[in-house]
Amino acid sequence: MAQVNIELKARDPDPSETAARCLALGASDQGVLTQGDTYYASRRGRLKLRVEEGALGGELIAYGRPDAREASESRYVRAPVAAPDELSEALDAALGTVVVVSKRRRLFLWEGVRIHLDEVDGLGSFIEFEAVLPGAGDLAAARAKMERLRTELGVADDALVAVGYADLLLDGPDALLRAADQAMRNAYAPYSEFKVGAAVRGASGAIYAGANVENVAYPQGQCAESSALGALVTAGETAITAVAVVAERLEICPPCGGCRQRLSEFGDAATPVYLGPTATTLGDLLPGAFDRGALA
Ligand code: THU
Repeated sequence: MAQVNIELKARDPDPSETAARCLALGASDQGVLTQGDTYYASRRGRLKLRVEEGALGGELIAYGRPDAREASESRYVRAPVAAPDELSEALDAALGTVVVVSKRRRLFLWEGVRIHLDEVDGLGSFIEFEAVLPGAGDLAAARAKMERLRTELGVADDALVAVGYADLLLDGPDALLRAADQAMRNAYAPYSEFKVGAAVRGASGAIYAGANVENVAYPQGQCAESSALGALVTAGETAITAVAVVAERLEICPPCGGCRQRLSEFGDAATPVYLGPTATTLGDLLPGAFDRGALA
């Protein structure tokens, strides 16, 4: 039978401090689970096979959750699996494997809400709240509990993550380059006829794209990177984890000096920048940047 829960996910800069706060709140420590989730191509929603270290069988989970940073509802069906290795082979042969997510999960329980402190291979530390209905109360009660947890555990707005671990792991340059290319097609560049598209990924995982917008009064024109950053900030985000820039008439379009500074405002020296088929970093594009330290 399908079940519903409410979930919230965020990056966790200090998991041991978070664990201490969970205990101080009276959450019960259920120990550490080592889990491997294999995701298969599916026609609707997500399909994953979960295998837990030390467990006899596995669990096949079909679910759907909107990409959202705020606490949002997820519908899922869980089916116990007696022979996970064989099922995995069958699903891989029939549907194809998309990605494997491996993590160590420290589980706390608090008033019907599951608190996950996850260490995900290749991604780092995260915190998740999962309020299973009706165990955590009705919808309003479950939301209120998650809000209280957010405050008590100090989950900052800009740490919230909109997408799942599988999406974060799959997050190479492709999706960003596609978004930049799509935006470039709408560039307004009647004067230079040099169409540019840019895309930035916000810390939430969402992608924001923009194109250059020229003006008959030439200096009033705006670069594609500025348009993309405007969309990021308008959506309520203030940090980027990756950038892509493409131009119609240039295979590798180096961002102009001004845009290197604009991008640096929201990323750091290690932030990857995909320029067509090549990759660099904000630090390499703008060494010795004028940053906040200069104002201190
Ligand atoms: N352009 C960008 O959009 N981004 C850059 O980093 C380089 C230049 C645009 C501005 C102008 O509309 C056109 O390319 C030609 O300079």
